[in-house]
Amino acid sequence: MSIIADDNDFEQKKVKKNPVIKAESIEFDKNFENSIRPKSFDTYIGQSALKETLKISIEAAKKRGLPLDHLLFYGPPGLGKTTLAGVIAEQTGVEIKITSAPALERPRDIIGILMSLKGGEILFIDEIHRLNKVAEEILYPAMEDFYLDMTTGKSQTVKTLRIPLPKFTLIGATTKAGELSGPLRDRFGIIHRLEFYSEDELAQVIKRTAGILDIEINDEGAYAIAKRSRGTPRIANRLVKRVSDFALVKYDGKITADIANQALDVLKIDNYGLDNTDRSLLKLIIEKYNGGPVGIETIAAAIGEDTRTIEDVCEPFLLQAGLLQRTPRGRKVSPAAYKHLGYKCQSEQQTLWQ
Ligand SMILES: Nc1ncnc2c1ncn2[C@@H]1O[C@H](COP(=O)(O)OP(=O)(O)OP(=O)(O)O)[C@@H](O)[C@H]1O
Ligand SMILES: [Mg+2]
Repeated sequence: MSIIADDNDFEQKKVKKNPVIKAESIEFDKNFENSIRPKSFDTYIGQSALKETLKISIEAAKKRGLPLDHLLFYGPPGLGKTTLAGVIAEQTGVEIKITSAPALERPRDIIGILMSLKGGEILFIDEIHRLNKVAEEILYPAMEDFYLDMTTGKSQTVKTLRIPLPKFTLIGATTKAGELSGPLRDRFGIIHRLEFYSEDELAQVIKRTAGILDIEINDEGAYAIAKRSRGTPRIANRLVKRVSDFALVKYDGKITADIANQALDVLKIDNYGLDNTDRSLLKLIIEKYNGGPVGIETIAAAIGEDTRTIEDVCEPFLLQAGLLQRTPRGRKVSPAAYKHLGYKCQSEQQTLWQ
């Protein structure tokens, strides 16, 4: 696997969002993630429907002697898009080159990468919704017919050169499929949304990670962490590390349900998995805007977060958990959010929500 260019900007936003991981360097975080990343379909937990589809596509491509169709994975952060791209490369036995759209600012960035690809290789572009127009237009013929259109010379003497490329597979990942342009989306043969994980699946992720890191944990301990991991393996992995620190300092190191719950309370992660930012967001809408609707910019300014972090990191889980709703007039909280945060839900609110 080679990382051609990367962009830390979004990672920093995610770190900023979660005070639990604020003190850690991003580099350390990335190394930690890489060390526990599953490398095969067998160790990649959950997403079973997607895995089955992919296995069939990989088998069919092998039988045809062709590279896999271009793939687009979308879904909230930390659900395993990058991991899955690595698994596909491993299972097909090809090299994967990793980059992200913000690192492909100039035409020569994307041209350079495309020309460096060898037959059958995978090019992974993270945050593909942030690709600029020029880079997108260079990608169209490369994805569709495997060639690059290059122009040389000036005004009257301008010539277009058509440079053939080896057949490759592009894997794009995005947290915002809606921001991808239609023509780019249409060039992906396989488009898949990654789903939030069940508690059972997260407990498996936690036990696997604990095994790799030599952390002792029982089933109840794993479930206690899974319950508060917002359906997200990245969060589950971070929490298991935090809880393990707590278990080591305060007890004998072994994680049980009781120790996990104590540690998560200290970390201010509640039994829905919400942290301080999520709670301030919901409380703001309840206390200052009578449950909403209220615009995202207003919310962002009031709680001191940027809109992108709120939209990409906080909201997907709040929406999925039924605590928040997006409406054309802004965000509204649900009666369940009132209840969860200990507010009395006015009957008017109840009707507004329905
Ligand atoms: N299905 C899975 N089974 C086990 N562990 C997983 C799975 N999916 C993700 N993980 C773990 O969660 C971490 C985050 O996954 P990954 O980086 O692939 O998420 P992502 O969807 O690419 O996130 P982002 O949108 O922020 O780029 C990985 O380090 C990996 O260890
Ligand atoms: Mg990723």
